[in-house]
Amino acid sequence: MDGLVQGKVALITGAGSGVGRAAVLLFVEHGAKVVAADINAANAQETVRLVKEAGGEAVAVGCDVSDPASVDAAVAKAVEAFGRLDIIYNNAGITVNPVPGKGLKSLIDCEPEEMKRVEDVNINGVIYGSQAAIRQFEKQGANGQGGGCIVSTASVAGLMGYGGVLYGTTKGAVVQFTRALAIEVADKGIRVNAVCPAGMLTNYAGMNPDSEHKDRILDSMGKAHPLGRAIDPRDTASAALFLCSDLASNITGVNLPVDGGLYAGRKTGA
Ligand SMILES: NC(=O)c1ccc[n+]([C@@H]2O[C@H](COP(=O)([O-])OP(=O)(O)OC[C@H]3O[C@@H](n4cnc5c(N)ncnc54)[C@H](O)[C@@H]3O)[C@@H](O)[C@H]2O)c1
Repeated sequence: MDGLVQGKVALITGAGSGVGRAAVLLFVEHGAKVVAADINAANAQETVRLVKEAGGEAVAVGCDVSDPASVDAAVAKAVEAFGRLDIIYNNAGITVNPVPGKGLKSLIDCEPEEMKRVEDVNINGVIYGSQAAIRQFEKQGANGQGGGCIVSTASVAGLMGYGGVLYGTTKGAVVQFTRALAIEVADKGIRVNAVCPAGMLTNYAGMNPDSEHKDRILDSMGKAHPLGRAIDPRDTASAALFLCSDLASNITGVNLPVDGGLYAGRKTGA
């Protein structure tokens, strides 16, 4: 049986860790050829090694999503390696550095330079990736009807007051960008969606997925979600895969929570 993205070429950013690495492996498992892009080129290369070990096809590229020239070069790499681009998954994202022992920083404690960096990566990174992909999609199709899929990792923090003010604001921007762009490019056959995960134990925000306290951290994260377990990076990658597949061929402009029910609400009295 064919995979859900059989024969498609996908560029996935933030591919050296967490959700990005899980997505590269899952998309390849489902028949895609993947360009694994990350600002940490060595980690992207390690993701590709894991793909090859599993018998799949992928190439790595060092890419800073906040730099449009770097993003263009990653798209060019997809065309050079695999002849085209069908999917971009704008997944790379960061937050302001947490305060050791205290967790998330309040807005008033954030420095201008670190705020600008988070905005550049989380908002502009998604915008540059989408622009570069659309340009390539348009080149590929007859009469500009190229088709193609854009999916981004927003966050449940972009849907509700959760996860830090500045970070939530950048993810809220991704949520709105997804809706607005979906409408703008619908007549080109391009679909634009986002996934909105809740808490995952990755390298995000100074966490350590290999921590000796992993079980305790996952347990406490799980308690924050109605379904009772932390979100696994593969849960998020699976939602992105679905949105890029033909199963979702009439779905665009959607920001899909992958949050164990967090955004839906809470039990009366809880
Ligand atoms: N972990 C969570 O709890 C959580 C929750 C909701 C949303 N998210 C979002 O999920 C996405 C993936 O994060 P993760 O949890 O896998 O974190 P992670 O830190 O494990 O992975 C993020 C990857 O992005 C890369 N990256 C950072 N800046 C980059 C840049 N400028 N250009 C290219 N690559 C860059 C990092 O090197 C890293 O490999 C992010 O957008 C994050 O905001 C995470």
